[in-house]
Amino acid sequence: MVKQAALDVNGRLAVEKKGGGMDNNCLSILDKRTNATYEIPFHQGTIRAMDLRKIKTGTEDFGLMTYDPAFMNTASCHSAITFIDGDKGILRYRGYPIEQLAEKCSFLEVAYLLLNGELPTAAQLNDWISIVTHHTMLHESTKHFLEGFRYDAHPMGMFISTLAALATIYPEARNVHDPVTRRLQIARLIGKVPTIAAYTYRHGLGYPYVYPDNDLSYPENLMSMLWKMTEPQFKPNPVMARALDILFILHADHEQNCSANVMRSVGSSQADPFVATAAAAAALWGPLHGGANEEVLRMLDEIGCKDRVPAYIESIKAGKGKLMGFGHRIYKNYDPRARIIKQTAERVFEITGKNPKLEIALELERIALEDEYFIKRKLYPNVDFYSGIIYQAMGFPPEMFTVLFAIPRTAGWLAQWEEMVVDPEQKIARPRQIYTGYSKRDVVPMEKRVA
Ligand code: ACO
Repeated sequence: MVKQAALDVNGRLAVEKKGGGMDNNCLSILDKRTNATYEIPFHQGTIRAMDLRKIKTGTEDFGLMTYDPAFMNTASCHSAITFIDGDKGILRYRGYPIEQLAEKCSFLEVAYLLLNGELPTAAQLNDWISIVTHHTMLHESTKHFLEGFRYDAHPMGMFISTLAALATIYPEARNVHDPVTRRLQIARLIGKVPTIAAYTYRHGLGYPYVYPDNDLSYPENLMSMLWKMTEPQFKPNPVMARALDILFILHADHEQNCSANVMRSVGSSQADPFVATAAAAAALWGPLHGGANEEVLRMLDEIGCKDRVPAYIESIKAGKGKLMGFGHRIYKNYDPRARIIKQTAERVFEITGKNPKLEIALELERIALEDEYFIKRKLYPNVDFYSGIIYQAMGFPPEMFTVLFAIPRTAGWLAQWEEMVVDPEQKIARPRQIYTGYSKRDVVPMEKRVA
């Protein structure tokens, strides 16, 4: 692999091709420790980290690795599901702009798209709706399991545990290499997450659980399981149901985010999709990820009124915490989902009345977007900035916000999981480390140890 180094007209390192001329399809690396030059082929705008392993100082050397805490610059997979251009503020599922999907499709249509690569025909959609609808019931033992939680248990804690517990009810789910079994578990999970979510909500209130209603659409059924009391059939408000469906579309997938990475990582050990989804949901719960929507509401409560926004922004700039719902690893522009949520909020507020927190949020956004600190760091509102304000107006307590995020994201996690399972290049996920501990040392007898 050692090649002669050469400099091109711009002084860049290049490698002489056999028939003359420079090879532009590879990266040439000169290792100054050995003066050896290596050709690393480009692969779709990246280099393969394993190609660096050839760069060694001698036969005893392990070879070069990359160091990339938090995966700031590492692609872990090929994926054809979701495309994001963070600089331009573009989000597409399977090539379709999020704005068009939010306007023209239902959540279950979008879930089908994520999982199958194409939008369904009318017949395919009817079949898919029927399959999901017939998997919304929970095994009765799940109810007993949920009853074991304290009255004030956080809904996300109950949601995550219940997802993992479902693995005990469907042991065949471990057969992850069988496509038919996989598809059955996918339908079960997408069908059951609203039911689990509703049960966690009613558990906190001490209300009896409501069984799914197969005559209702996916968001309407969730509303029924959440809010039905003694009436024979719950009559969902169509504007609220559509708003919920749009929110579900916006949250359905977001390529290799923290929880999708967990889904793939846990799934890579061939764990079943119920426990992998539980793990992904656990990652989502963190305040830097899907738990941010709950934190935004707490922050707006703390600010209290519009007049106190400038002082709050100053405290953030002085290093006292982060502005929750702002900033994103990928978006360095306005998050397109936040824009759609803002429009959807208007329609919800016509029914529910304006959430007074909206005024504070709008003022926060206005001041932050004009402030040098936020401009310089390209910090814009993300999906979580406005979603909580709508959820609260709809009647949800902040503890339910992340659960509402997890319901639609289940479709995205499962699409990512299945793509990983069938990808012949994927193996068990197992990063390397740079060891910084002691070299070998011997155990000292207890009486000779000093603190
Ligand atoms: N408020 C104030 N400053 C911020 C914020 C914020 N919300 N976000 C980032 N910054 C600052 C950082 O302090 C850092 O400043 P520095 O360069 O002076 O040190 C700079 O902007 C870069 O930020 P990083 O933390 O390096 O960015 P990273 O990509 O690691 O983090 C994250 C992204 C976690 C989303 C971050 O912006 C954040 O914590 N935001 C608030 C929580 C939130 O809203 N999370 C939801 C994200 S969307 C989702 O997961 C569904």
